[in-house]
Amino acid sequence: MAGLYNALQNEHVELFSELIGAEHVLTDTESLEKYSHDETENLRFLPQVVLKPRSAEQISEIMKICNRDRIPVTPRGAGTGLSGGALPHLGGVVLSTERMNSILEIDEKNLQVITEPGVITEVLQNAVKEKGLFYPPDPASRGSCFIGGNIAENSGGPKAVKYGVVKDYVLNLEVVLPEGEIIWTGSSVLKNATGYNLTQLMVGSEGTLGIVTKIVLRLIPYPKYDLLMLVPFRKLEEAGDAVSKIFMAGITPSALELVEIEALKIVSRMVESHAVKVTEDTEAHLIIETDGNHPEVLMQEMELISEILNQYDIGDIYFADDEQQKAELWKLRRKVAEAVKLEGFTIEEDTVVPRANLPSLIKGVKTLGKKYNFDVVCYGHAGDGNLHIRIRKEGIPNSHNHPEMTAVLRELFELVKALGGTISGEHGIGLIQKPYMNIVFNETQMRIMREIKKCFDPNNILNPEKIF
Ligand code: LAC
Ligand code: ZN
Repeated sequence: MAGLYNALQNEHVELFSELIGAEHVLTDTESLEKYSHDETENLRFLPQVVLKPRSAEQISEIMKICNRDRIPVTPRGAGTGLSGGALPHLGGVVLSTERMNSILEIDEKNLQVITEPGVITEVLQNAVKEKGLFYPPDPASRGSCFIGGNIAENSGGPKAVKYGVVKDYVLNLEVVLPEGEIIWTGSSVLKNATGYNLTQLMVGSEGTLGIVTKIVLRLIPYPKYDLLMLVPFRKLEEAGDAVSKIFMAGITPSALELVEIEALKIVSRMVESHAVKVTEDTEAHLIIETDGNHPEVLMQEMELISEILNQYDIGDIYFADDEQQKAELWKLRRKVAEAVKLEGFTIEEDTVVPRANLPSLIKGVKTLGKKYNFDVVCYGHAGDGNLHIRIRKEGIPNSHNHPEMTAVLRELFELVKALGGTISGEHGIGLIQKPYMNIVFNETQMRIMREIKKCFDPNNILNPEKIF
């Protein structure tokens, strides 16, 4: 496949320098190294050049050159991805959107925001919050990831359980196509039954169909109050079972997260916290949040949730009393992935099943761990049926294509499929999950996806060989 592409020449570097300024064209070893990895395991692929354009017009010119000369281009946000989507595994150009970092307009009349892709998600959230508005999707990395990367991966996060994921907020996108044309995908309206939905085709396409340069998002009013509790379960599977019972009682929490005790122990060593006592007779915790505008309703909901939980073998429920305690608890949760990775659990999976099948997934995962003699740790967005699973085995290099690893992963994904689920809920397929796409899609489905890719990118130069 790499033979289809051409290596970058000095003339290209000169051309790019004229176009965007030499200081935004990086070829030194240190910079190339910096852009050779993201947060996915320990993968490293050096690009030949890193470009930092400032506008859609500049990106358009870059794409025209690369398309003409068959140079692969890998778009990149903040490099926090967990499936290798932004890794330049064929070399060529890494195109970073980091300088396109302006929030262009907060439209308070229409509850919309127009932003460039290189804005940090939390910065965007805080800017709209100042106007009393809420942009809910909040991946664990929200303090460093870019909104553009969130669009590419259709990110989720803890709030998705009540408020939905990125796709539920994207109204319209300006996109540079692989051959250099600049288009808007739709209209900045709340309803749209006009033709194919190109906007949603872009969301979650992992930078394979175009480079998003402007984003129009829908916002909602910021909920005034929230309550947060932490519930210790003696049995992991019971924690999984309680999740669907809460929804069946008519309550939609604004977050419903599960953290297995091993993950909590590891993260507690990294993040100082007074909020959580790690006790030996606990296998897992649920973190449950409700939010809204009426405190008395939230109290009632929490009471009802407590009644449901008391039917299980649980320890003392801990309520976060003030903003600091809430922030501590959330910090613990958000740091889990980073902490367990440092402990050698480098392969992170992003399985998702219908919510009521969560206990079967948890049970199956543990059985698989025993069968193959792997350490397995689970945490994630239980309310969405979206479980992150990290595995580790003494003596096995942390490589996603090591045969012992792939055997476990294949069996895990087959279980997920059998439970009515799929292999990624919010991290994407990128480079590392693509060998497993044939578990969840047949040849006809894959052909349709390949044809769509060809239609946008006939020369296959934009983020080639990602997803499939
Ligand atoms: C989390 C990220 C890794 O939920 O998705 O922690
Ligand atoms: Zn997650």
